[in-house]
Amino acid sequence: MPVSRGDMPKIVTRSFGVDGSNTIEGATARGAYSRVDKALAMTPAAVTDEVKKSNLRGRGGAGFPTGLKWTFIPKGSSTVYLVINADESEPGTCKDREILFWDPHLLIEGILLASYALGCHHAYIYIRGEMMREHQVLARAVADAYAKGWLGRDRPCAGGTFKIDVTVHRGAGAYICGEETALLNSLEGQRGWPRLKPPFPAVKGVWGKPTIVNNVETIANLPAIIEHGGEWFAGLGTPRSGGTRILCVSGHVAKPGVYELPMGITLREVIYDVCGGIPGGRALKGVIPGGSSMPILDPSEIDVPMEFDALMTDARIKPVQVRPGVNFDLGGGKQLRTMAGSGGVIVMDETTDMARVCWRVMKFYAHESCGQCTPCREGTGWLERITRRLAAGEGRPGDVELCESIAAGIAGNTICPLGDAAAWPMLAFATKFRGELQSKIKEANGVAKVPAATVAG
Ligand SMILES: Cc1cc2nc3c(=O)[nH]c(=O)nc-3n(C[C@H](O)[C@H](O)[C@H](O)COP(=O)(O)O)c2cc1C
Repeated sequence: MPVSRGDMPKIVTRSFGVDGSNTIEGATARGAYSRVDKALAMTPAAVTDEVKKSNLRGRGGAGFPTGLKWTFIPKGSSTVYLVINADESEPGTCKDREILFWDPHLLIEGILLASYALGCHHAYIYIRGEMMREHQVLARAVADAYAKGWLGRDRPCAGGTFKIDVTVHRGAGAYICGEETALLNSLEGQRGWPRLKPPFPAVKGVWGKPTIVNNVETIANLPAIIEHGGEWFAGLGTPRSGGTRILCVSGHVAKPGVYELPMGITLREVIYDVCGGIPGGRALKGVIPGGSSMPILDPSEIDVPMEFDALMTDARIKPVQVRPGVNFDLGGGKQLRTMAGSGGVIVMDETTDMARVCWRVMKFYAHESCGQCTPCREGTGWLERITRRLAAGEGRPGDVELCESIAAGIAGNTICPLGDAAAWPMLAFATKFRGELQSKIKEANGVAKVPAATVAG
């Protein structure tokens, strides 16, 4: 049953800003762990069915259906792991850290429910190394959940007893370790390099065992799904994306922040209604809808709903001709325009220098490329260097086309999608702000205003 916007409940952010909500006493008073007995009275398969019915889709970036992913665990697996991805390093994204800080027990309860459904008895939370404050809160929450017997103790369930242990593991601060297989390597104490897939983690994950990797926000939705049912959750969202959506809005808006919003809200509503518009009445120039790896949208494209499919299929971006006769289609024929990604909305007004933004984005991915795949290691470095000179007004004729060709050489040619994370935005900047990038070519300008070496970022 669809729920009107006014009635839209807060599912994962309801304790944000509430003093004491992250202590076990405060959380329990607000309903934490109240869904555990209900879930344990169901069969694990019934819990998974409820999650499938809910249309919950992963909030880590790709929007993969959560219940479906869980069914990829091979039947009869004796050891299964659940790994919570709390690495959150995508520029523009700052939602998981808020859940970890304000409502760690909601996450732990979600872990209990997911683990029961998966037949998992040991879950890991892989938390980004820089999140000191959140780690402290989370470690205390886990210790308190052990002390109260939610963790580490047999609890009666349909057909016997169920026990789950949770280990919190701190990363060392590398963006690549958010990629699920790099994360698993890092968790095992190895270098954080992505693994070739297949085998997918659901078949061969941490310690070689079937493993489900899910994002913090994904798992924090589970208690509400068990409490109210999958259909209720599905009814909150759009036909193929259930529930609400956290968006982290930054940049040129009057009220930046972390908002839990209806799944189908449009980007225009987010910018102008929720976030109070652009200060000074300035015009919008561009907006990145889901973290910096997602292709930028221009002002004519902001009536798109922020749910997972619309952002991909409502495309207007045209295939890019990288050389005569060779086109690179961002969507591989699927007309992909951009993606909902990790919910990091970055708003830029008319004063923004897009060449500089493009360079800054490329600089991030060049820095974070793990170096394992040649197209990404070399290509992101070249994109950074070429966009740096463009940003400095020292571009050379053919630079924009060169960037497109390099990006097309990276996309789809690497073990993990970090290469795409640089290539897609590059192609979108080159398509939508081509004139501005071209205007940075030195010959177009006459004399460069700032030497490339002095551009700081
Ligand atoms: C380079 C890279 C970085 C990523 N970083 C994160 C991250 O910080 N947090 C996250 O949940 N997913 C991240 N992902 C996505 C994960 O690989 C994985 O799809 C996700 O954790 C699955 O959880 P979900 O199904 O609940 O979304 C990243 C992917 C890539 C390619």
